[in-house]
Amino acid sequence: MTSSSFLLFLHISAILMLCISISPAAAEGDRKANYIPTSHHFSLLQALFKQSSVEDYLIRSYRRSFNGFAAKLTDEEAKKLASFKGVVSVFPNKVYHLQTTRSWDFMGFTQTVKRNATVESSVVIGVLDSGIWPESDSFSDEGFGPPPQKWKGSCKGGQNFTCNNKLIGARSYVGDSVTESARDIVGHGSHTASTAAGNHVGKASFYGLAEGTARGGVPSARIAAYKVCSEHSCTSEAILAGFDDAIADGVDLLTVSIGSVGSSEFYEDSIAIGAFHAAEKGILVVQSAGNSGTSQSVTSVAPWILSVAASTIDRYFIDKVVLGNGKTLTGLSVNSFSLNRTKVPLIYGEQASTGCPERASRICLFGCLDKSLVKNKIVVCDDISQALSATHVAGALGSIVQTSRQNTSFVVPLPASALRTDDYESVMSYLKSTKQPVAEILKSETIQDSWAPVVAEFSSRGPNRILFSLNVMQPDISAPGVNILAAFSPVVSPSSVETDERRVKYNILSGTSMACPHVAAVAAYVKTFHPDWSPSAIKSALITTATPMDTSRNPDGEFSYGSGHVNPIKAINPGFVYDNVENDNIRFLCSIGYSEDNIRTISGTNSSCPKNSSKTLPRDFNYPTLTALVEAGGSFTVNFQRTVTNVGVATSTYNATIASDSKLDVKVTPQVLSFKTLWEKKSYNVTVKGRALAEMSMASASLTWSDNIHNVRSPIVIHTYKGAS
Ligand SMILES: *[C@@H]1O[C@H](CO)[C@@H](O)[C@H](O)[C@H]1NC(C)=O
Ligand SMILES: *[C@@H]1O[C@H](CO)[C@@H](O)[C@H](O)[C@H]1NC(C)=O
Ligand SMILES: *[C@@H]1O[C@H](CO)[C@@H](O)[C@H](O)[C@H]1NC(C)=O
Ligand SMILES: *[C@@H]1O[C@H](CO)[C@@H](O)[C@H](O)[C@H]1NC(C)=O
Ligand SMILES: *[C@@H]1O[C@H](CO)[C@@H](O)[C@H](O)[C@H]1NC(C)=O
Ligand SMILES: *[C@@H]1O[C@H](CO)[C@@H](O)[C@H](O)[C@H]1NC(C)=O
Ligand SMILES: *[C@@H]1O[C@H](CO)[C@@H](O)[C@H](O)[C@H]1NC(C)=O
Ligand SMILES: *[C@@H]1O[C@H](CO)[C@@H](O)[C@H](O)[C@H]1NC(C)=O
Repeated sequence: MTSSSFLLFLHISAILMLCISISPAAAEGDRKANYIPTSHHFSLLQALFKQSSVEDYLIRSYRRSFNGFAAKLTDEEAKKLASFKGVVSVFPNKVYHLQTTRSWDFMGFTQTVKRNATVESSVVIGVLDSGIWPESDSFSDEGFGPPPQKWKGSCKGGQNFTCNNKLIGARSYVGDSVTESARDIVGHGSHTASTAAGNHVGKASFYGLAEGTARGGVPSARIAAYKVCSEHSCTSEAILAGFDDAIADGVDLLTVSIGSVGSSEFYEDSIAIGAFHAAEKGILVVQSAGNSGTSQSVTSVAPWILSVAASTIDRYFIDKVVLGNGKTLTGLSVNSFSLNRTKVPLIYGEQASTGCPERASRICLFGCLDKSLVKNKIVVCDDISQALSATHVAGALGSIVQTSRQNTSFVVPLPASALRTDDYESVMSYLKSTKQPVAEILKSETIQDSWAPVVAEFSSRGPNRILFSLNVMQPDISAPGVNILAAFSPVVSPSSVETDERRVKYNILSGTSMACPHVAAVAAYVKTFHPDWSPSAIKSALITTATPMDTSRNPDGEFSYGSGHVNPIKAINPGFVYDNVENDNIRFLCSIGYSEDNIRTISGTNSSCPKNSSKTLPRDFNYPTLTALVEAGGSFTVNFQRTVTNVGVATSTYNATIASDSKLDVKVTPQVLSFKTLWEKKSYNVTVKGRALAEMSMASASLTWSDNIHNVRSPIVIHTYKGAS
């Protein structure tokens, strides 16, 4: 019996996450008697296990911004604990993943834009990521005064980790007490932090590629780093701990380039929960949409988060291959190596095999390449997935690999070019045509991409999969996320291939992770002009001023780019905003049919749905975009209600203009909004009619309110995608 229950424990001890919050009433009572959260967490566990030593079960206590803890429990124990008085909810721990700067100039955000460095330097951007490299030039505090007075954080980066007046806070939730350090040994956290708020660093480049001034969007702002991710993953318990501290430390804004694989309901998503608490305290959370590229793969789904897609900038990396027959092919890679104008023998993976099965050899899987056969040769492989590392490990001089990617280049660990299928086939026929095939791989070059911005092929598409939340559009906005040069950790390989021994201070990365801090910086920039704006007002300003993107180049339309490409200059002056009022987020959760238990998990309070909230529709959540799910195959009429707040010119009149394809008939009432004062609110209704849409399809239009100075634009999306449940 004993041994079987022990096995059971080990098996399920996959660490259940516990976020318990004390109801206000209970906490109030306890507070009078000097309420100490951690000891309360211990006593709950003691009551559960009926024993006094429970240290081994408690992983972490949250007590600064919300009340709860993480503990190792079985399903049974979790269930039992959930029924204890004062326990609001219990939910499982989950694993999340980490998902130049020409980019700012490309956005029209030049080094000479209007800014107030004094105000900017009082803004603190919190970065939940893999830590930070404090000695990077991007985080030097030259010219910075002491941290803003409101700052309550501290520097707990571990041994040999020093903060300064630029990097004003650091904490880590990864590793044990000995190894715990906020130092970034992944590179990702330094990259995102420097994109958001790194200093101007002249002549930054990756081996001469993309040379220019590396800079963050708000270079005078301060940075606080919260290390919630290790090399391998990020956990719910660490992420929540980061939110708990960041909110209490006094950050103004949080950038979170982290996501789960697949979206989950808000009450099981620690980023949605942490961001909810942040929003309640006036802190906007910006999150990457995800890197899955396919329809309905967006994982940043809570409407109180700003969800960011990745798009291209006008600089594009190509890498040429010259075959022995003179033919030049253009591949994708960020290749810093030169073969010095020499042609090198080519060998197909299948011919260099250690005796692996045919297909494994052709795609150059690990262990399938014979070191003596690939020495001083370029290896040709049918598939990119393991080929770059495998050819590097085997000691080849270079590699030519086939890729299904159309447009994205990655840093390679050896002279290598990734060829699209038709070009790859030219290599294959050349290989067959001659006994001694040779080729040269050139160093990468950058070219002008006049198509940009186009949503990156890897950027996750909406709509999300959360039933009823399908009436809120994600992603919200798009920003540069392809081939971004920014600070890196100098102890890790820039290609993330372990055997690549190069070490760099600046690296070129792609991902929605790179787009997210661009938008966080723009949000911070807006906050420097409007320190009193709520998170939803700032979010609205970014969304309604985004530059519309071209549907012909982005066939997934709004579900790929949201409202469009972020526009920092326009965002500071949006005209009016879609602001949320108190409890709007709770009302939204009520309107999508969540139980009170589910809602309490998110809010951490004894909140309940207002009696009349069942009358509120999710699509009437006061969001700057208008989205509705309708049944496929029938004609439809959908109504939306919105309330806007004047932040532009006191006396102003806005007229409505609709741009629509023939599928949607859109009417706005009233058609004119007249304001007499700032902060005045006005409401309007929109009715959208249309004929039957096919399953899994969408139609879109846009509504623009204009007073001839400001254009406040909202996309309207009607679709027939289904949720997961
Ligand atoms: C929650 O709040 C309501 C109304 O304020 C109160 O009646 C109720 O007792 C509270 N519940 C708990 C568990 O504290
Ligand atoms: C920056 O803003 C502060 C506070 O609003 C103000 O006192 C100062 O004059 C501004 N500086 C510039 C250069 O505009
Ligand atoms: C502290 O960290 C820096 C940067 O990695 C390193 O150069 C230095 O040797 C470290 N010092 C100690 C005492 O570990
Ligand atoms: C090309 O020349 C550079 C500079 O002399 C050298 O570092 C590099 O190893 C050479 N590459 C090859 C493949 O020989
Ligand atoms: C991707 O590359 C292909 C082939 O070069 C080109 O036709 C297409 O327009 C590009 N798409 C994007 C999104 O840049
Ligand atoms: C619900 O009731 C509150 C308070 O009575 C009121 O302010 C609000 O407008 C009502 N909402 C709806 C959707 O009827
Ligand atoms: C919008 O529609 C609702 C419901 O039909 C109605 O109560 C409200 O008065 C309308 N508002 C405006 C501004 O027309
Ligand atoms: C709005 O429309 C009215 C009536 O068509 C027109 O008189 C007015 O000039 C318009 N205002 C703007 C700002 O376009």
